[in-house]
Parts: sequence; structure tokens; C-alpha cells
Amino acid sequence: MTKKKGADIMPSFGNPFAGNVERKITKGELIQAVRLDIAGELEAIYLYDAHVMATDDIVAKTVLADIRDEEKAHIGELMTLLQHLDPDEAEHFASGVEEVKEMMEKLGTPDEAAVKATVGSLLDR
Ligand SMILES: [Fe+2]
Repeated sequence: MTKKKGADIMPSFGNPFAGNVERKITKGELIQAVRLDIAGELEAIYLYDAHVMATDDIVAKTVLADIRDEEKAHIGELMTLLQHLDPDEAEHFASGVEEVKEMMEKLGTPDEAAVKATVGSLLDR
């Protein structure tokens, strides 16, 4: 099996030039890079969460959970950036959100995110 050039996408920290590119990337390549960055954040969340669950050390649990939650914020940043870079993809995301909301409505399941964000709930705080 032959490897395509650039197929190794994970950094090799032994090589200080592994992350260098020889040119500026195109917008399409930037969009792909941001998708890869999102995947990296998801992987990080998965790993930090596994480590939180795997220990009873309260300090380690607290620190790792905090870092895990920061990775979640990074996904929010990257998703916002992706939607800025690719408005067509943003429409697909919005379509998916609406599909799930419709399913939840049919099931009579409250939309917890919407419930949390009501003006009334903010005024009650
Ligand atoms: Fe991150």
C-alpha cells in the first residue's frame, strides 16, 4: 500500500519542521484544515474524558475536566469559523439542527438548549 504525500497528518514532534507548509493554503484547503482541527478537538475531549473517568484523584479529575471543557469551547470557535468560511456548509448544519428539533417536537421531548436560553429563565437568575 502506497502512502499519498501528506497522508501523515498527525504531527511528529521529533521533527521541528513537520507543521511547516511551503505556501499559503487555499480557502478550500483552509476549510479542510479547520475540519481536521475540529476532529482533533473531539479526539482530545474523548481522551480527557476517559482520563477523568479513569481516576479517583480529585485534583486530576478537576484539572482534566476543566481542560476537556476548554476543548469543547474550541469546537464552538472552530465551528463558527467553519461556518464563516463555508456558508453553504453552515446551511447544512442549520438544516440538521432543524431536523432534530422537528423529531424532538414529534416525540414531545423538550429542547433543553432552547429551554436554557429563554429570556424568562435568564430573568429568573
Ligand atoms: Fe483545543
